[in-house]
Amino acid sequence: PDKGLKGYYRKYFPIGVAVNTAALSGPEAELIVKEFNSVTPENDMKMGPIHPQENEYNWKNADAIVAFAQQHHIKIRGHNLLWHAQAPAWMFKDSTGKQVSKEVLLKRLKDHITAVVTHFKGKIYAWDVVNEAIDDKPDLYLRNTLWYQICGEDFIAKAFEYAHEADPDAQLFYNDYNSEVPSKRDKICKLIRSLKDAGVPVTGIGLQGHWKLNEPSVGQITEAIDKYAALGLKLQITELDITVRTAPSYKTANQTPPDSTYTESMAAQQAERYKAVFEIFRKYKKVITGVTFWNVSDKHSWLDYRGGGIAGGAAASQATSRKVTKAYPLLFD
Ligand code: XIL
Repeated sequence: PDKGLKGYYRKYFPIGVAVNTAALSGPEAELIVKEFNSVTPENDMKMGPIHPQENEYNWKNADAIVAFAQQHHIKIRGHNLLWHAQAPAWMFKDSTGKQVSKEVLLKRLKDHITAVVTHFKGKIYAWDVVNEAIDDKPDLYLRNTLWYQICGEDFIAKAFEYAHEADPDAQLFYNDYNSEVPSKRDKICKLIRSLKDAGVPVTGIGLQGHWKLNEPSVGQITEAIDKYAALGLKLQITELDITVRTAPSYKTANQTPPDSTYTESMAAQQAERYKAVFEIFRKYKKVITGVTFWNVSDKHSWLDYRGGGIAGGAAASQATSRKVTKAYPLLFD
């Protein structure tokens, strides 16, 4: 049990990895068992995949991941209960195709969260409850999603309350990317402060960690951790990957020739970068309670399908077969 990455990090925090059912057998399964002691389903617990129709839940893949993890004594993070991407269209519409009211949407949200959290109760120790609700533009606060358009700000607090009711023992996280960018960081702090003031059960903040070789800077990461920790919350790095190149966005990627080089110099810079960020994580072991990589190997990184861009979640599914450019963001090839 004390071998592999998880062994080296035993005294710090669990080392996690995003998984799909395809990784539960073969060489990736061996790596998961050897190196990691936490898993996050990459897609299978999201609202669209797990709740495709109002009266239909699809537990199969999520249950398979949970069974694998339990068999190998691996902790499980649930991801996620509410997001604007990979949300099923039926959620926001009535039978005539008209947009539902706030009351109806909150009732559906409650049903969804109650069903999913209850299904995995006692098996999942932490949930990403609300994912990416804050806008990237400095002058905008919350992202203008259907959740926001229909419910206003309320859906965020409600999601945490429903999750807590369904499993009072689960840790509950707000999860976002670019959380080290000062303008977005301050908005996350504002949101969390308002939730805490209202007595909403939030355990911590997930920093996704879709990073580049030089961005965000060590100073920005450290400052963000300090600010979040000052709110009295736990932090987890939930989706770590470090792309070796800034690639075109998925919108222009099909006009750009695929770039698949992974030079010695890129590899060396990436190693230094991983070393630097893990030095920070170790230094903050009192507040950082988990670090999860966003996949086992470069063979299946989500960044490849969309040119290394990190803007929005729906694009990947439109581009699954498009060979764009390789990001080589993970530990294994
Ligand atoms: C990504 C998955 O990796 C892809 O397979 C999927 O097509 C789109 O979603 N932020 C998140 C994750 O919180 O759920 C996203 O995962 C990556 C960005």
